[in-house]
Amino acid sequence: MKKGQKRQTVVVVGLGKIGLTMAAIYASNGFHVIGTDVNPAVIESVNSGKSHVKNEPGLDELVEKGHQTQQLSATLDTKVAVSKADIVVVVVPVLVYEDNDVDYTYMDAAVDQIAAGLTKNTTVIFETTLPTGDTRDRFGAKLEAVSGLIAGTDFFLAYSPERVYSNKILSDLKKYPKIVGGINQSSLERASAFYKQSIQADIIEVESTETAEFAKVAECVYRDVNIALANELAVYASEKKVNILEVIQASNTQPYSHIHSPGIGVGGHCIPIYPYFFMKRGLPEGLAHLARKVNDGMSIYSIKEIDDYMDGLKDKRVLILGLSYRENVKEETKSTTWLLVDQLKQKQAKVFVHDPMFTNIEIKNRSLTPFIFTEDETKKIDVIIVQAFHDEYKNLEFSSFSNCKLLFDGRNALEQHEIKKHGIAYKGLGL
Ligand SMILES: NC(=O)c1ccc[n+]([C@@H]2O[C@H](COP(=O)([O-])OP(=O)(O)OC[C@H]3O[C@@H](n4cnc5c(N)ncnc54)[C@H](O)[C@@H]3O)[C@@H](O)[C@H]2O)c1
Repeated sequence: MKKGQKRQTVVVVGLGKIGLTMAAIYASNGFHVIGTDVNPAVIESVNSGKSHVKNEPGLDELVEKGHQTQQLSATLDTKVAVSKADIVVVVVPVLVYEDNDVDYTYMDAAVDQIAAGLTKNTTVIFETTLPTGDTRDRFGAKLEAVSGLIAGTDFFLAYSPERVYSNKILSDLKKYPKIVGGINQSSLERASAFYKQSIQADIIEVESTETAEFAKVAECVYRDVNIALANELAVYASEKKVNILEVIQASNTQPYSHIHSPGIGVGGHCIPIYPYFFMKRGLPEGLAHLARKVNDGMSIYSIKEIDDYMDGLKDKRVLILGLSYRENVKEETKSTTWLLVDQLKQKQAKVFVHDPMFTNIEIKNRSLTPFIFTEDETKKIDVIIVQAFHDEYKNLEFSSFSNCKLLFDGRNALEQHEIKKHGIAYKGLGL
């Protein structure tokens, strides 16, 4: 910040994995930051200088520093915080219901509070992934109606997707350019200037909020479709007794080939959700639909493979490693584990779930049976399924599973020979 310049106040609404990290970064780059959340435990931890988000390298230190320098604080009162803001950044999830229609519950509640506190000249930036048009038509309209202010003149409205990856947010922010779109030129200029100072990354200014929204959803749909292709190739490779990993590695030496990795399923609150932002909004058929079907179908395919190998799974004790949708992150939204548990219950197997990110009580509270690592329990396991290969599993003693007949490696993360030497058969996807 230049000498004599007024320190701007940024309010970050939603202090989750992304919101807290962004808040701490803005604070470290000279802004006065107030974070808001609906979870009192989150507010308490931020106000004592502690990050509630684990496994995010560099975040603990940034939150502690923000607290010590009084640049970072948190409150449950979004309305009051917003009334003091120069800039409001919104990072509250938008999800889908069971029927895959868009679920705005969290975001609508947050926008109600922002609208109630909004004052003249504030810049509001949405970072949550949104269906195209929502920043302007759904949330902008709400902000105008409640505050009585005009978007684009009285207050400014922009959209900038968050494209980082949990566990790598701080390093990703430096690597990926920040896409920014505004509802008009003044909104774009203000949002761009904010990001130039607050994250010091390259900025890509696009024509509108709609372009910026679309760019993020398109990127996620591309990944979903690409993974579906990798999954189809993996199933075929399995039939042909060819190693898919070798195939992909060889194919991708051609610069136009970017085949992703196959896997037992695609989870989390990004890739399996955002295709529906197209599909439920005017894209009734096509590749995005097919990709969702293929990727969700991988859990059915995998359980069938296991069932065939085991000659039935009735009363067999199956251990799923990983409740999280992927390795090293505590996030179970749309985790493939839910699909696997459904399939296994249909086969009348006894299912146990282990995940070092969750306590046994947290697993129990999700109506799952936690696996307790004792000599007796490990001996009784018949099948292991690797769903999320957390770093902790790298040192797992597979020899202790002395009666295990099969390990199904849903992430192709383990070395076959390492498993086989303990007398456990190994199956991977397309291996
Ligand atoms: N996690 C990722 O890897 C990732 C990557 C790119 C983009 N994103 C985007 O960021 C969004 C947030 O992701 P996240 O991982 O930080 O989610 P998260 O679940 O970790 O955190 C969301 C936070 O919002 C809070 N919240 C809910 N309703 C609220 C309200 N009305 N007011 C204030 N706070 C409220 C929750 O209590 C929670 O702390 C995603 O929906 C996605 O669009 C996430």
